[in-house]
Amino acid sequence: MKIIALSTFAVILILAFSVITSENIPEFSSVENYQGSLKKGEYIFNASGCASCHSSPDTTDEEKLVLTGGRAFPSPFGTFYAPNISMDKVHGIGAWSEKDFVNAVRHGVSPEGKHYYPSFPYTAYANMTDQDIADLWVYFRSIPESSKPSIDHDLPIYIRWRRPVAFWKLLNNSEPTVKLISSDPTVERGAYLVETLAHCGECHTSRNLIGGLQYEYWLGGAKNPAGKGIIPNITPAKLHWSEAEIVEYLTSGFTPDFDVAGGHMVDVIKNTSRLTEEDRLSIAKYLKAIPGVKK
Ligand code: HEC
Ligand code: HEC
Repeated sequence: MKIIALSTFAVILILAFSVITSENIPEFSSVENYQGSLKKGEYIFNASGCASCHSSPDTTDEEKLVLTGGRAFPSPFGTFYAPNISMDKVHGIGAWSEKDFVNAVRHGVSPEGKHYYPSFPYTAYANMTDQDIADLWVYFRSIPESSKPSIDHDLPIYIRWRRPVAFWKLLNNSEPTVKLISSDPTVERGAYLVETLAHCGECHTSRNLIGGLQYEYWLGGAKNPAGKGIIPNITPAKLHWSEAEIVEYLTSGFTPDFDVAGGHMVDVIKNTSRLTEEDRLSIAKYLKAIPGVKK
C-alpha cells in the first residue's frame, strides 16, 4: 500500500513539475492593434535602460546603440552575460516577430518557450503598457545589426537548466509594489517610471535567498550583487534631499554636497538625463511619497 501511495505521490509531483515548467508558449496578450511610434519608442528605450546592459562594454557613447551585448553581471548565482539583441537575424533578434519581443520583455519567455533568467529585469517590465511596448518594438527595428555572437553565461551546473526558473517566476511574479500614500497623477507617473521602466528597485531593493526582491523593503537599499559595497536606501527614511535636488542628481549626477554619482548609477543617469524635466520631477515626487524603510 505504502509503495503505491508513494509512487502516486511521485507521479503527481512529476506531472506538476512538467506542467508548471513546461516550455510551451502561453497565449499572452498581444499588442498587434497598437500603432507604434519611432520617436516615442526611443523615449521608452532610454527610460527603460536597455542599452545600459546590452551595449557592448567596449563601445564609446556614439556606438552604444549597437546592442551587441557582452556586459558581465556577476551575482551570487554565477555570471550572466547580456546577449546580442541587435537586429542581426542570426546573432540578434532580427528574425523575431513583435509577439516574440513582447513575450520576452514582459513575460521572460523566449520564442522557443524557454524561460529567461531574471538577470533580465522582465519582472519590472511586466507592467509595461501595450502602447509603450509597441513603440519600443518600432524603435528596436531601427537599431543597427551586429554579427557578434552572444557570450554563454558562466553558471554552476544546477542553474544551467532553465525549467526551474518557472518556479522562481511563480514565487516572484511582479506585485504592484508600493502602496502609495498619494493619488497625485504626477506621483503615479513616477511610480510607472521607477517601478516598471527604469527598474530602480532591481538595484536599490534587497533580495531574498533565491534572488527575489523583498518588496517589504522597497528601495530600502541593498548589497551590491557584484560584491563590493552597498547600494543606498533612497526612501524618505534615509534620502533627505529636496525634490529639486533629486531632479538635479538625475540630470547631472551632482549631489547636494557637490559630490558626483559613481558606480552603476552613472549609467542610470545617462538614461534619466534624457527624460523630460517633468518625468524627472515625477520620479522625485514618487521617491518623496513612498514609505520610509528603516533597516
Ligand atoms: C540589468 C541588465 C538588463 C537590462 C536593463 C535589460 N536586459 Fe535584456 N537581458 C539581460 C540578460 C542578462 C539577458 C539574458 C537572459 C537569459 O539568458 O536568460 C537578457 C536577455 C534579453 C533578450 C533575449 C535575447 C535572446 O537572444 O533570447 C531580449 C530580447 C532582451 N533582453 C531585451 C531587452 C530590452 C528590450 C530591454 C529594455 C526594455 C532589456 N533587455 C533590458 C540583461 C538586461
Ligand atoms: C544598476 C543599478 C542601479 C539602478 C538600476 C539604479 N541605481 Fe540609483 N544608485 C546605484 C548606486 C550603485 C548608487 C551609489 C552611487 C554612488 O556611490 O555614487 C546609487 C545612488 C542613487 C541615489 C543617491 C543616493 C545617495 O544617498 O547618495 C539616488 C537618489 C538614486 N540612486 C536613485 C535612483 C533612481 C531614481 C533609479 C531609477 C531611475 C535608480 N537609482 C536606479 C545603483 C543603481
